[in-house]
Amino acid sequence: MATVLLPFPEDMRLAQAVATRCGARLGFMGWRHFPDGESLVTVEDDLADADVVLLCSLNQPDRKAMALRFAAHAARELGARSVGLVAPYLAYMRQDASFHPGEAISAHAFARFLEEAVDWLVTVDPHLHRIPTLDSLFRIPAQALAAAPSLAGWIAREVPRPHLIGPDSESEQWVSEVAKSVGAPYTVLEKVRHGDRSVEIRLPRDFDLQGRTPVLVDDIVSSGRTLVAILEQLRGFGLPAAVCVVIHAVFADGALDALREAGAGRVVSTDSVAHESSAISLADPIARAVAARLSRTHAEPAT
Ligand code: R5P
Repeated sequence: MATVLLPFPEDMRLAQAVATRCGARLGFMGWRHFPDGESLVTVEDDLADADVVLLCSLNQPDRKAMALRFAAHAARELGARSVGLVAPYLAYMRQDASFHPGEAISAHAFARFLEEAVDWLVTVDPHLHRIPTLDSLFRIPAQALAAAPSLAGWIAREVPRPHLIGPDSESEQWVSEVAKSVGAPYTVLEKVRHGDRSVEIRLPRDFDLQGRTPVLVDDIVSSGRTLVAILEQLRGFGLPAAVCVVIHAVFADGALDALREAGAGRVVSTDSVAHESSAISLADPIARAVAARLSRTHAEPAT
């Protein structure tokens, strides 16, 4: 039974690394726009009985969502036995409640949208806050991989005397795991978000890194304001330039420059979203998860 990995064009580099590691064939998916903005998606036509794995990181989800549905639909029309999705970054997880009357709970709606198209999902560190587990959100098999071991490996190799810093209580789940693996101290700060680009960070009264290198660890950089607010607070402590280590490099326009202007030293991310900061590859854990998922799929009778 063939496994065919169909990557969205911008996820090609990660897809090549994943395909090599899990013995999948790298297939073709094309995507272009008509002058009116509608998408034309093309997948290779040799998919009969194949287990198809779409690889699409879901940053900029509104731009990609229709094309993803079209690709899944085309694969099924061409006779694919199963269609799974590797979405290393899963969008809309932060809107996990209705914060004001009438607001859509995007996390729920987007989960329904995806599960109508694919049979299973693998993602990396989805932003689980008010939703306790990925399983409680999806009605298809959905697996969340942890980037912590990959982040820890990079920090242990690259940063002398690190002290890890998480911006808020939500970040403790990542920061504590990474700190434990690195064998470094960590501090979780207090964050108040006043608006999309307005963030206040409070340091603890006894904040003292004892000359260690601050390593800011967060799951997502979007506007960059969270990390900028921490960098501004760190000024005046006489510490080495802070290293920013991020799982999902969503980076809205100007965010990377803002971090640098605020005094960041190295800014690195995983390749869950292809970005110039992507220095930490998740190809190994993703390939292992895909291989395990497909061995379960192969063991089950075709539906
Ligand atoms: C928030 O809950 C997340 O963990 C990140 O801290 C947040 O998404 C970062 O956003 P921004 O870069 O826009 O401050």
